[in-house]
Amino acid sequence: LRQRHPIVALDGPAGAGKSTVTRRVAAALGLLYLDTGAMYRAVTWLMLDQGLDLADEPGVAEVLSQSEIRLEPGTLDPAAPWDLPPVRVWVNGQEVTAAIRTPEVTARVSRIAAQAAVRSALVQQQRRYGKTGGIVAEGRDIGTTVFPDAEVKIFLTASIQERARRRQQDLINQGQGTVDLGQLEAEIGERDRQDSSRSVSPLIKAPDALELLTDGLTIEAVTDRIVALYRDRVADL
Ligand code: DC
Repeated sequence: LRQRHPIVALDGPAGAGKSTVTRRVAAALGLLYLDTGAMYRAVTWLMLDQGLDLADEPGVAEVLSQSEIRLEPGTLDPAAPWDLPPVRVWVNGQEVTAAIRTPEVTARVSRIAAQAAVRSALVQQQRRYGKTGGIVAEGRDIGTTVFPDAEVKIFLTASIQERARRRQQDLINQGQGTVDLGQLEAEIGERDRQDSSRSVSPLIKAPDALELLTDGLTIEAVTDRIVALYRDRVADL
């Protein structure tokens, strides 16, 4: 007998469409949605807010051990059930849902995500959220480290050019104006390099993950593919 409900692990680099796809898969399957990147962002926001030197690993670990990071899935808008809001995040009781998405946090989060003490604290918390299963978890190390026994593992990728175009469109949609494509490609390439080359839990595909290259595919097509895979896989168990 299975001890928990199934888990879907969705990993991949920034800009591959993970968060949109994860939320849609979760909605389609009636599962919870766990955005682990939001947790690394929340820790980064906290350290910047405290004026801490991000390179001071013991200092970061100490502040984190005395803090509470809390995630809550956003509520579904019945008028637009597909347009799921991002997860809401609180740090020590203060809502930081918007604050963790600023360019300042985005530019620094890799440094925090590379620290072993931060990772072990957040991975522990992520496993607690996934204890009873029934979740779609999104990140970089979900299929390799957080939930290595996940029933469905997806490694979602797209070319750097495609990811830069999508990021540019997101920024325009958020009213942040037009950012040069070349600059976005360089930033994405740098973040990939940092995320894949760090010594703790680098971004790599789990051997048993299905790699999906999303260039030229619609969000609906990618979502349908994963939902179908889940139904196949879970029906077999
Ligand atoms: O998915 P995102 O862009 O919100 O992630 C923010 C950063 O956190 C990114 O640099 C990679 C890192 N991250 C990680 O190292 N492990 C995870 N499970 C999730 C995110």
